[in-house]
Amino acid sequence: MKNTVSTLLKQKQSGDKITMLTAYDYTTAKIMDECGVNAILIGDSLGMVMLGYENTLPVTMEDMIHHTAAVSRGAENAFVVADMPFMSYQVSVQDAVINAGRLIKEGGANAVKLEGGAEVCDQIRAIVNASIPVVAHLGLTPQSVNAFGGFKVQGKSLDKARKLIADALEIQEAGACAVVLEGIPAKLADIITKKLFIPTIGIGAGNGCDGQVLVYQDMLGLTTGHTPKFVKRFAEVGALMRQGITDYISETKEGSFPAQEHTYAVDDDVINELMKECD
Ligand code: KIV
Repeated sequence: MKNTVSTLLKQKQSGDKITMLTAYDYTTAKIMDECGVNAILIGDSLGMVMLGYENTLPVTMEDMIHHTAAVSRGAENAFVVADMPFMSYQVSVQDAVINAGRLIKEGGANAVKLEGGAEVCDQIRAIVNASIPVVAHLGLTPQSVNAFGGFKVQGKSLDKARKLIADALEIQEAGACAVVLEGIPAKLADIITKKLFIPTIGIGAGNGCDGQVLVYQDMLGLTTGHTPKFVKRFAEVGALMRQGITDYISETKEGSFPAQEHTYAVDDDVINELMKECD
């Protein structure tokens, strides 16, 4: 059964934690869907983990549509949420509705996600009025990396914490169906989660949220270098890949791959005739 906005809402009401992971391609989305993840996010984090950019800012609508369409084809049951990239919704409400519509029509997403609080409520209202569910995103919103001066935990001072609570209430009032809380203190996320009737999905926001989301390359051990504190590596897929690729290289070089069982047979008569013709 396809998960919907109502599924997520019911999960919050019953205390059944929402599981969300990012995916950017068909094969990964299909595996996640078969495992039973509730929702898949095509995050604009794809700019970093798939395209090798330093941050999410260069990601385009075309990038998002391309990857969203691939994920949608693999996600039979999971609720598919597509990120609206930087500058696809900030400039005008009209842009926001047109671009959200493209992620649904061309990408096959079930909802869109955009970053920000009070300042994007007009956009949220207009997109929701176009019958497109919107997931909001508050806290350490990566599209504001330059304004924040880096990827820093948000909401630690009283003023900033109050502002985040006010933003959460405003995006809910504007019609958001859920909100991602990223990089904020766990106790602040608990307060926001209790105040809202819509589900909160945390990343680096503790376990009091109604659900969790992680970038799959982080949680499967595919990323190298600095790992944020909130990431748990549930598997070491990167190490497995390295082993498999190294074995392939050495077996191919030494001639033990492909072996007999990897080759196709042909009648000896055919080969004998061909050899005669070649003599
Ligand atoms: O782009 C992304 O992957 C995200 C998650 C980190 C929530 O927005």
